[in-house]
Amino acid sequence: MKKILILNGPNLNLLGVRETSIYGAQDFETYFSTLKSKYDIVELSYFQSNTEGFIIDKLHEVGFEFDGIVLNAGAYTHTSVAIADAIAAINTAVIEVHISNVHTRETFRHHSYLAKNCIGVICGFGLDSYRLGIEALLAR
Ligand code: DQA
Repeated sequence: MKKILILNGPNLNLLGVRETSIYGAQDFETYFSTLKSKYDIVELSYFQSNTEGFIIDKLHEVGFEFDGIVLNAGAYTHTSVAIADAIAAINTAVIEVHISNVHTRETFRHHSYLAKNCIGVICGFGLDSYRLGIEALLAR
C-alpha cells in the first residue's frame, strides 16, 4: 500500500466556515473521509497545523518513509523559506496544492517559495485539487 499524507497549513482547519466564496462550504474532515473511501490502494493520512514548525516537524517525520505528500501550506507558501528547505531536505515527493487559483488573486499569492522543491503544483480546482494531487503521485 502506498502511503500518502495530506498536509494542510494555517487557517485550513476553518474550511467550510472561512471565506466560503473562495474556499467552498465543505469542511475538510468530511471531504477527507469521502476521499479516503475512494482509495483502497492508498493508506491516506491527514495532518493540519497552524504553526510553521509543526508543519516542518511533520515533513521530517514522514519524509523518509511515505511515498508522497500533498501539501497545502496556505499562506506559508508565499513566505516560508524554512518549509521550502524542509521539502528539499526530505526524500518523499511533495506536490503543492491550492484550493483557489492563486494566480487570479493578489500578486503576493503568485509567488511560491515551495514550488521549486516540489514535483509539481496544482491549484484552482477547489477541494478536488487534493484528489488531483493524489492522482499525480500515483501516476509517477
Ligand atoms: C490557499 C491559497 C493561499 O494563498 C492562502 O493563503 C490559503 C489557501 C488555497 O488553498 O487556495 O490559506 O493555499
